[in-house]
Amino acid sequence: MCGIIGYAGSHETVPVLLDGLRRLEYRGYDSAGVAVAGDDEIRILRAAGKLANLEERAYGCPLRGTLGIGHTRWATHGAPTEANAHPQTDSGGRVAVVHNGILENYATLRHELLSAGTALASDTDTELIAQLLGSREGPLLERVLGVLPRLEGQYAVVALSQDDPGTLVAFRNGPPLVIGLGADENLVASDVTALVQRTRRVIFLENGDVARISRDGVTIVAGDGQVVQRPVEELDWDPGRAEKSGYRHFMLKEICEQPDALRNTVVAYLDAERQGVNLDGLGFDPRRIAAVRKVQLVACGTSWHACLVGKFLIEQLAQLPVDVDYASEYRYRSPLVGGETLVVGVSQSGETADTLAAMELARDAGAPLGTICNVRGSSAWRLAEARLLTQAGPEVGVASTKAFTTQLVALLLVALALRRTRGLATEGDRDLVTALQRLPLAVEQALAAPDEVFRRGVELVSEHEDSLFLGRGILYPIALEGALKLKEISYLHAEGYPAGEMKHGPIALVQEGFPVVALATQTATRDKLLGNLMEVRSRGASLIAVSEPDAAEVARLVDLVLPVPPVQHLLQPVVAVVPLQLLAYHVAVELGLDVDQPRNLAKSVTVE
Ligand code: G6P
Repeated sequence: MCGIIGYAGSHETVPVLLDGLRRLEYRGYDSAGVAVAGDDEIRILRAAGKLANLEERAYGCPLRGTLGIGHTRWATHGAPTEANAHPQTDSGGRVAVVHNGILENYATLRHELLSAGTALASDTDTELIAQLLGSREGPLLERVLGVLPRLEGQYAVVALSQDDPGTLVAFRNGPPLVIGLGADENLVASDVTALVQRTRRVIFLENGDVARISRDGVTIVAGDGQVVQRPVEELDWDPGRAEKSGYRHFMLKEICEQPDALRNTVVAYLDAERQGVNLDGLGFDPRRIAAVRKVQLVACGTSWHACLVGKFLIEQLAQLPVDVDYASEYRYRSPLVGGETLVVGVSQSGETADTLAAMELARDAGAPLGTICNVRGSSAWRLAEARLLTQAGPEVGVASTKAFTTQLVALLLVALALRRTRGLATEGDRDLVTALQRLPLAVEQALAAPDEVFRRGVELVSEHEDSLFLGRGILYPIALEGALKLKEISYLHAEGYPAGEMKHGPIALVQEGFPVVALATQTATRDKLLGNLMEVRSRGASLIAVSEPDAAEVARLVDLVLPVPPVQHLLQPVVAVVPLQLLAYHVAVELGLDVDQPRNLAKSVTVE
């Protein structure tokens, strides 16, 4: 939530800031702004709405300078107006601040400042930080160290001060900040996507770190002012992968990238010689894993749906009981967790606040802690003792697609590895590994479904305010994910349900033309699912089924088949979700909506 960028270098800063903000816009897009340190004053430009509004203003009113900060906002305190946009300044306009997060002692600080006669110009908690910094004397770093004990909550902040030329100070407690080390320039941003165009050498700040960043160097101190060393890491992301590359939307590009993303993820962890999975070297102590008696998967959103599939995979292959928890529930429900519980936090970004808090709880309880994560160096990455990197590359569209399918494959790899550790592996596992190697081809086939299929799907779905997505067994989570995709980007209400449970309530919704989307690929329970579909059909529902195209019994029953090739049962979720991603995409495009930046959402949810 909220994108932050700061620049200290030798180039004009505004184009660099705007370019960074464009790459961070998926984090929030209610309003945006930049501040530039001019010769004798800080100059600020802000605009409500999308970044394009700010870009237009910047074009008409160029701000010159080589030190600046920028922000794209997902509103917490205060409506998304220009006055509440960041950067925020102190009353004297000597300090400017951008901030991601929430100050929990907002009310107390605001009351104190108002009582002391400070005139506040916004409703934001961010302005309070600027006012506190502005009320102090001395170098900006010293001021920050003085103010830090007053800040409660989660924050990632970058500040500049007219009294401390050439200097940015960045500090975090919760939301991420990463420094980019360039040639004759240094940057700081909420995430690496904003930096890879300029540098691959980065430093991830730890919670509590305060960094002084200038064109010539970076110094990091802890809250007590003592200098700390943080490793410089080399990013392996290709900057081109964060571009649209001719696609109309990032989401479509990312859907189409799934075969490669899956291939890369499988190849990274497959031991070709042994025809098995090689997760050695991920970081776990084998003795700790041997002692594991149950598994808990924690995540949010789409990643939580991946975990529901993971439960099937791990329980079936590794014969271990698996709990799947929303991270936001887990952290407050006193879970039964200890040394015998393997806890895995699953997260595309590795920065979701609730997932991180759940992982911290597990770590503190002594559980072996792993993560399946798409961002090397992210907070989840650093928190976990074992990490499996999904190789999806940067995912920019707010609705997660390629990260999801790579998470499914990663969970299968974990299930296979646990199976081997527990002595359950058999010769027959080779078939599954071979099927896994062929999976990218199957996804390519699913992607090749003709356009008219989706045109018809759009007709059946887009004119109804509600729809129902049904699945059974390992495909039930895919019904949830299909419904979530549609909701997120088309704003049509959709509900995912286990097909067998549909009679206990949702069937009341069904009337003439009501769209029901079913996961009807070949499984042991397909006949039962078809029985459920007959029940809604006889009440007037329109039926769309994801199915192998040659399944005559499905084709006879439904109005439209979204075709997928046949694959091994445990791999069906990966293939079956693809047409549902495309269906949601085409519906949103038809409705003229902003596919990549849907209303009210943010890609990386760094507050509770
Ligand atoms: C947000 C995003 C979702 C994502 C969820 C969890 O809600 O919009 O697409 O699934 O956060 O994010 P994570 O990065 O932890 O997977």
